[in-house]
Parts: sequence; structure tokens; C-alpha cells
Amino acid sequence: MTVPLRPRPTVAGSRVLAYGAARGELDVPNDDLVAPIDSSDEWIRQRTGIITRNRAGRDTGVQDLALQAAREAIETSGIDLESLDAIIVSTISFPYQTPSLASWIAGQLGTPDVIAYDISAACAGFCYGIGQADALIRGGDARHVLVVGAEKLSDFVSPTDRSISFLLGDGAGAAVVGPSEQPLIGPTVWGSDGDHWSTIRMTGTITGFRDGVSEWPTLEQDGRTVFRWAVWHTAKKIREMLDRSGLTVEDVDVFVPHQANMRIIDELAKQLKLPEDVVIGRDIAETGNTSAASIPLATHRLIQEGAASSGDVLVQIGFGAGLVYAGQVIVLP
Ligand SMILES: CC(C)(COP(=O)(O)OP(=O)(O)OC[C@H]1O[C@@H](n2cnc3c(N)ncnc32)[C@H](O)[C@@H]1OP(=O)(O)O)[C@@H](O)C(=O)NCCC(=O)NCCS
Repeated sequence: MTVPLRPRPTVAGSRVLAYGAARGELDVPNDDLVAPIDSSDEWIRQRTGIITRNRAGRDTGVQDLALQAAREAIETSGIDLESLDAIIVSTISFPYQTPSLASWIAGQLGTPDVIAYDISAACAGFCYGIGQADALIRGGDARHVLVVGAEKLSDFVSPTDRSISFLLGDGAGAAVVGPSEQPLIGPTVWGSDGDHWSTIRMTGTITGFRDGVSEWPTLEQDGRTVFRWAVWHTAKKIREMLDRSGLTVEDVDVFVPHQANMRIIDELAKQLKLPEDVVIGRDIAETGNTSAASIPLATHRLIQEGAASSGDVLVQIGFGAGLVYAGQVIVLP
């Protein structure tokens, strides 16, 4: 006979309690990057919407940005550190293979015995993290979860790469997620398309670099393929996300897709037929594409500027290398 295990208490829902943000301290305008890629300020503005991007200096590590964003999110949330049970960090640019950046943050915050791990889901990473936080809380494994998306992508760009280098910036965004009697985070719609594994890729491996087979690995992409995939695939997934949350586009107050390209953002809004009054995250213009940090950074900016407020229905979706995607509806704190 099978021995039944004790049932675990579960929680009805979860919610975001607060956000935190950190941007690279350097302002790098298009003109600083165009010469080695035979481009122009005008081309970059027209094709991507980027005017300038934040990058971190040599002495600022991805961990510094992550910790700064994490501290702000925790402080704003007002939770006791003792009730923080998990730290999830999404990053593709922490320079250690192991241990994780999440464990390092746990040490810096002084939170003993928390669940701590990193995830590699590129530009979808923050939304993957929110999906996991929601599941940990609803499943009774954690009361409060810190989710951080942090990148210092400037360590992995080549100044001569024409395909992606001019898009990328450095920053970190964080959110504290906690339990809620009503679900204020909707079902996560997430997945991957492994047939496109090499669409956004590294130019080589670190072992290849060690062995002198390849240069220091940097990011590169087939931009046009990503563009098409992002628009068609993501619009479909957003409709699914709204449907599973019991909402329609008329219920949306704020739309924050991954900050990859202003034309993708505009095209998504058009495809979805978003009403005119929906506030749209356009942080890419000044911050650039910060991968896992882009969605919380854009959201943080909208809240700071008063364009988004408590109780607003936010739709967020990330997509990137893998190709992977994830998104959910969030009722803003
Ligand atoms: C990368 C990206 C900005 C390129 O823009 P695009 O409009 O697709 O550009 P194309 O590749 O079609 O090239 C159009 C022209 O611009 C030129 N071009 C390409 N890159 C250029 C650059 N960096 N500067 C100047 N000209 C460039 C091409 O040579 C081509 O010239 P031609 O018409 O004379 O042949 C765009 O594809 C993009 O943003 N894709 C999605 C990126 C993304 O979301 N990545 C995910 C990261 S998470």
C-alpha cells in the first residue's frame, strides 16, 4: 500500500510588493559606437529607437548592480529579511560559472539558509523568475521571493559587431514577490523554440578562448529572424496570457515588453490593438537593451515617473536567446 505524504499548505496567489533598479553609471550615446561598425546615430535611432544606453564602468560588476537593485526592492517592500525565503537571479553575464550570483547576494544581505539559484533564460529571465517565484509561493515553499534580473552585457560585446553590440546596455532590476489572498500575478505563459538555438549566440566558448581556438566570446545575432519571431510569436502569447488571466486588451493599463527594439514594441502594440491610453514602457531609448534587467527597469521608471500606479494591470513579456519567452499579467503594487 502506498503511504500518503502529509499534504502541504498552499496559498491562493502571489503579488509583487516592490521594485528596485540600478543602471550602469556611464551614458554611452550612439555617436560613441558608430565608427567601428560603419553606422550612424540616425540609423540606430530609426531602426531601434535607441538614443543612448547605460553601461557600467570597469570597476562596477554585474553583482554591484544586482545588489543595489535588490536592496531597493527589499527596502521598499518593507518585509523583514527573516521572511525572505528565496533569491532567484536571472543573468547571462555573471563572470563565475559557479557559485551563483543569487548565493552571493544572500551572503551580502545576510539572509541565512535561503533558497538561492541563478537561471539562464536571457531576455526572458526576469519573467521566468517571476513565474518561479509565483509557483514557490503558491506551492507553500516560500513566503517572500526576491527576483533579480542583472546584466553587465558590455563585458560580452565586440565594438566591431554590427548585429547586436550597439543595442546592449548594463543594469539590474529587482522585485520582491509575496503571498496574496487573491492572485495579483496571472498564469505565466512560457516556453522555448530550440530550433532557433543559434539565432542569438556567443561567437565562441570560454574553453575555446582558453585553448586559443577563438577570441573572447561576445554576443551576436540574426537580427531580422529575431525581429520576425518576436513580433509574431510574442503577440500570440500575449493574447493567450490575457485569456488565461480572464482579461482582454481593454483591461490593460500598462504594457512592458522586453526592451529589444522600439519598432518591436510599436509593432506588438499594433498587433494587439492596444487602446491609445495604454502606457507603454519605452526605457530602451535611454537605457538600451539590458536583457534580463530590461522589464523591471522599464517598469521601475514608469512607476517613478508616475505614469504607472498602484492597482494598474501590467502586461509584461520577455523573449530572447534560446529562443525563449515568458510573460504574465501583474497588478502593480
Ligand atoms: C538588429 C536590428 C536593429 C537590425 O535592423 P534591421 O532593420 O532588421 O536591419 P537589417 O538587418 O534588415 O539591415 C538593413 C540594412 O541596414 C544595414 N545594417 C545592418 N546593421 C547595421 C548597423 N548596425 N548600422 C548600420 N547599418 C546596418 C544592413 O547592411 C542593411 O543594409 P542594405 O539595406 O543596404 O542591405 C533589428 O533586426 C533588430 O532589432 N532585431 C531584433 C533584435 C532583438 O530583439 N534581439 C533580441 C536581443 S534580446
